[in-house]
Parts: sequence; C-alpha cells; structure tokens
Amino acid sequence: MEVLTRTDQLRAAVAKARQAGARIAFVPTMGNLHDGHLSLITTARTRADVVIASIFVNPAQFGPDEDYETYPRTLERDQALLASQGTDFLFTPTVAEVYPHGDTTRTSVEVTGITDRLCGASRPGHFRGVTTVVSKLFNMVQPDVAVFGQKDFQQLQVIRRMVEDLDFPIQVMGAPTLREQSGLAMSSRNGYLNESQKQQAAGIYRALCACASDIESGARDFADLETQAVIDLADAGFRIDYFQICRQSDLEPAMEADRELAILAAAWLGDTRLIDNVQVNLD
Ligand code: PAF
Repeated sequence: MEVLTRTDQLRAAVAKARQAGARIAFVPTMGNLHDGHLSLITTARTRADVVIASIFVNPAQFGPDEDYETYPRTLERDQALLASQGTDFLFTPTVAEVYPHGDTTRTSVEVTGITDRLCGASRPGHFRGVTTVVSKLFNMVQPDVAVFGQKDFQQLQVIRRMVEDLDFPIQVMGAPTLREQSGLAMSSRNGYLNESQKQQAAGIYRALCACASDIESGARDFADLETQAVIDLADAGFRIDYFQICRQSDLEPAMEADRELAILAAAWLGDTRLIDNVQVNLD
C-alpha cells in the first residue's frame, strides 16, 4: 500500500491507474478504524481494480463543543489494517493540504432539507462540513464508486442527494453496519465507552429491533411506537436525542402508506453520543 499525503501525489497515482484502465473505488474515513471500516474496503474491492482509502479528521464537521481535538488518531495502526486488507493507496492529507487558506467555510457545499432533521438538528453545520469535505475528496480522487457505512444512514442519504444534485459521476454504495456480539453497532466512538457501558449501549439496537418488529407485525401508530421507545431507552439510562421512524428516501417522518422505512436513533450514554438505525422494507 502506498501512502500519499499530497493532492498532487494522489492525482498522479490516480492518473496512472486510469491510464492502465483501472476502475477506482474510494473509501473515505476519519481513521481509528474498526472491522466496520475494513468491511467497506472489502466491499470496495469487489467493485473496482484499485481501492483508495482516505484518513482525514475533518475539522469542518465538528461543532465547537465536540470532540475534534480528542478524536482518536491512530494512524500507524490504521495503516497496518488497511494494508492487510489489500488497500492500494491511502491518502492522509494534513488540514493545511485540504484547507490551504485556513478557512474551512471559504467555499461550502450544502445539501438542504434532508440535513435539517435528526443529526442535522442537534449538530448544526455538521452535514455542511461532511458534504464540503466529501466533495473535495471526490474531486481529488475522482473515483468510479465510493463506499459509505449504513451506520451513518443520514450521512449516506445526504451524500447520495449531493451526488445526484451536483452530477458527480460516482456510484455511491452503502455497506451494512457491522455489530458487536451484543448488537452494538461498531463505531470509532465506542472507544469512549467502558465495558459496562458497551453492554448497556446495545440497548439502542434492541429498541430499534423491537420497533422494527412491531412495524413488521402491522403496528402503524408511528408516534406511539416512537414514544414507547423513548420511554424504554430513558429507563435503560440513555439521554435521548431522537428516535424516529422515517421514509428511507428523504428521511421525512414516515406515513402509513410508506413501505421503505428507516428507524433512526441517537442517544447519549454518559458523555458519548451514539447513533444507530435499522431499515424496514415492508414489500
Ligand atoms: O463518516 C465519516 O467517517 C466522515 O463523516 C467522512 C465521510 C469520512 C467525512 O469526513
């Protein structure tokens, strides 16, 4: 695996691969990799000849009170994991390489509507930071396909919307969430939890599955199902940000006639904010 830190190096490597006729897949990450990330690389590998991963902790997507400074940076370990997974190139630029003028908002890419709700409501500016950096990375890498985890389902739908609206010639793929044995979704932020919190945190997935199973059994009072889940999660020790049954396509609140649903939850356990979701396809 070749490690590149500068955009000109990356462009040269991509140009060479393209000249050789290679199809290119891209997996953007913020590092501190776990098996979930590695499964994105595996998915990418099935879709392309050359797999490029990036590790960049993007300051533009963190709010002023969030964990940008303390976000775990584990480059050496991440590099070894990516290499063992057969990644061809790792792009790991500095903040100055990505934002050479020091201002992360000098030009921004913003998807409206779908970003106002759920995580967008509690993390103002977060998705603008994500879409701006992903646009920049897409322009730098120019992949044929880009793979994102379904664990961040709203992010995935926002990026799909951006790619459609801005005509990026890139196929966006969502890869399934990997889970611990307890059901807890794998996440870089699980490292903030102690062992007993990790067990407790699986309660979010249990609540999502219980809600999905009620819907599959015919329950259609979505407001009531959401209220019940919020009560159950609060009883289990969570501070709930949201628990919502949405339409998959635009993440608007689901209506009775909708068939493709996503149930999304965000909740705090101590100082750690966790998100998870499940999809329910009724046809
Ligand atoms: O999901 C992430 O790790 C980040 O939001 C992403 C897509 C790499 C953009 O910084």
